[in-house]
Amino acid sequence: MREKLLELLNKNGFVSGEKIAEQLGVSRTAVWKQINTLKEMGYKITSVKNKGYHLESRPDIPYPEEVCSKLNTKIIGKNLYYFKTLPSTNLYAKELINKGAEEGTVVVTDTQTKGKGRKNREWFSPPGGLWFSVILYPTMIPPNQSMSLTMVASIAVTEAIKKVTGLKPKIKWPNDVLINNKKVCGILTELDAELDKINHAIIGIGINVNNELKKDLKEKATTLRNEVGTKVPRVKLLKTILKHLDENYAELLKGKNDVVRKKWIQYSKIVGKKITVKDENTVIKGVVEKVDEEGYLILQTNEGKKTRILSGDIEYTT
Ligand code: BTN
Repeated sequence: MREKLLELLNKNGFVSGEKIAEQLGVSRTAVWKQINTLKEMGYKITSVKNKGYHLESRPDIPYPEEVCSKLNTKIIGKNLYYFKTLPSTNLYAKELINKGAEEGTVVVTDTQTKGKGRKNREWFSPPGGLWFSVILYPTMIPPNQSMSLTMVASIAVTEAIKKVTGLKPKIKWPNDVLINNKKVCGILTELDAELDKINHAIIGIGINVNNELKKDLKEKATTLRNEVGTKVPRVKLLKTILKHLDENYAELLKGKNDVVRKKWIQYSKIVGKKITVKDENTVIKGVVEKVDEEGYLILQTNEGKKTRILSGDIEYTT
């Protein structure tokens, strides 16, 4: 009912309570109650006697009514759960999977109290950012191709940021999105897989949009607001990401892995770059020769050896 009410209010000018009640097949009291709920949710609605209601502005909060309306995707974002706060959207997505959630279901929250980063690191998730997870059942993608899921996510984020802000983000292997060499987005893909089949994937995406950054993060991270100079609309950004994710994921399902990998390589500009790879105990320096079919880096090391990089944090060296 809320979505239909918003559709009616969306038309220019005033719409009378009587007309709304008639169109929705409910009482005028029910309409009045829903209008009040919308006001509490942050919609600015004016009511004028004998004229009715007028929607002045919508909140920039990723409610399903805002994100899913006119999204027109095939798989991603058919269902969306929004929360003011959650421990972690990846954790909640796991609970939804256990209850049989549909593929493409999105969980989004304004803040996380136990946001998870890669390698069990904490992910700072204050208000103003975009913290969300997408549930996928990529059963036809072989487990050795699982990196392609993170790739479609970083491609979607890169394309959407460019479209919405005009900025030119760059992907950093394996899953960060940078602007002016500072991290603006991190992606945590959690898989449930057997030897020959991925049962489910949870793609967790964290984007610094209009939020504050912890002091110690400021050197290496940035927010979209910092880079653009004004607030960036989160709902528009999330919608655009979901659209691009839908399109790029469809390519993967069609078996067009190569198209995805080529796009990723283009957005990362990593081939030919000098890098340092740090893991718990090792540091390797070299030049990236290529990104192989499974998404790993093939490095020509300074010692003249060829190495396949499966994990670690990379830094560009000059
Ligand atoms: C990284 O370490 O770079 C990955 C960070 C991923 C953070 C996102 S925020 C939404 C989702 N829920 C989580 O708990 N983590 C991911």
